[in-house]
Amino acid sequence: MEKKIYTVAILGLGGRGADAYGWLLYEAKDRFKIASICDLKPERVEMFRKHFDVPQENCFTDEESFFQEKRADLLLIATPDNEHVRHALKGFALGYDLMVEKPLTENEEECRLLLDAQKKSGAKALVCHVLRYAPAFMKVSELLKSGTIGRLVLINALERVGASHYTHSFVRGNWRNRKIAAPMILAKCCHDLDLLQFYANSACKNISSVGDLTYFTKENAPEGATPRCLDCPHKDTCPFSAKKQYLDNWEVEKPEDCWPYNIVANAPVTREKLEAAMRAGDYGRCVYLSDNDVVDHQVTEMVFENGVKALLTMTAFTATGGRRYHFHGTLGELILDEHEGSIRLHLYGKEATVTPISDLMEKGYGHGGGDAGLINALYNILSGACAAETSFTASIESHLMGIRAEESRLQNGKMLPVHS
Ligand SMILES: NC(=O)c1ccc[n+]([C@@H]2O[C@H](COP(=O)([O-])OP(=O)(O)OC[C@H]3O[C@@H](n4cnc5c(N)ncnc54)[C@H](O)[C@@H]3O)[C@@H](O)[C@H]2O)c1
Repeated sequence: MEKKIYTVAILGLGGRGADAYGWLLYEAKDRFKIASICDLKPERVEMFRKHFDVPQENCFTDEESFFQEKRADLLLIATPDNEHVRHALKGFALGYDLMVEKPLTENEEECRLLLDAQKKSGAKALVCHVLRYAPAFMKVSELLKSGTIGRLVLINALERVGASHYTHSFVRGNWRNRKIAAPMILAKCCHDLDLLQFYANSACKNISSVGDLTYFTKENAPEGATPRCLDCPHKDTCPFSAKKQYLDNWEVEKPEDCWPYNIVANAPVTREKLEAAMRAGDYGRCVYLSDNDVVDHQVTEMVFENGVKALLTMTAFTATGGRRYHFHGTLGELILDEHEGSIRLHLYGKEATVTPISDLMEKGYGHGGGDAGLINALYNILSGACAAETSFTASIESHLMGIRAEESRLQNGKMLPVHS
């Protein structure tokens, strides 16, 4: 029998929908075919119509036309955070299976609405919690499940956002402000909450969280700072200067299509386009004088039903990025450090062993191989050969943790039950 090729419609052709998954789906020609695309930006639609070889009549620049009928087996929703629920409900109504970018929503009612809509439609639906499909994070799960470190007691997780990533995305960029994006605990840390409940192998019972925006505010602007970095007397000395972060760094290799430059200016990126964006766009702004209100550090404490405890620290104040997860078990400890690129296993009374993460990777795509891992798993999920690790049901459980954590943060860290 001929192997089925699943057709995919992509809604939102940005960094995720097109640059990450779009290319992976396009390259997996024996399993997937991109049948339809839609984005509000005509230039993105035109560019990816050509790249992904999509018939003109299946390319859309408005969602009304796109949602007139079902155009593929799977709908990939990679629009901004606040559009996911609306788009998912339209997708379910048309009978699509869904793959939706995180976070689904920051609203508890909407979590229920989505689960009900999925149940009613009978569709398969998963959330892009890609780290669950990343080899290093999967290896840790294997070690925990096999009881290598005995009974898991405590997880100490550090999410190093990194100063340059933080200022790019959460001070100047699309996730800078509560009016346009979910709170940090969902926007960035929903991967962590999802992993923590997965590793704890239990539902979260109670959660508390504290965190603030302490530094990227006007009170901390150096004297004479101007709203735009290119006009600023500190442009060559400020560690967060947009001139340094984008223009000067870009000059080193002059990449035409590479993050973060392709977010600041449309690819092919040139110095002229970057400079124009510095003068007029969001990414040329002073980090102390932006309209950001996102916490720059947050500490969240969790107690799971089975007694496992977890502490998650998210901080902008790191020179490098990468997660560091430290698992404490009754027989040993396990440390996954993305920055060091290693998994360190130390059983009590024995020598530690270190596995380089690179030994576990087949492909070097984004999120530690998680983007590619998700697309690899997708075929089996759609065919029913395996269940989605990141089903709506599993993911909504961790969304509830995030929603409750944010409520706790707004109540000065009061410990709250996840399920009221
Ligand atoms: N899984 C992950 O690790 C991960 C990483 C980064 C971002 N994300 C999430 O993925 C989503 C997309 O992020 P991104 O970085 O690709 O953003 P992006 O801004 O690069 O892309 C979003 C695209 O959606 C388009 N769009 C907006 N409204 C639309 C509509 N109504 N109809 C059609 N197109 C529309 C925009 O024009 C844009 O091209 C966000 O929710 C983000 O939080 C997830």
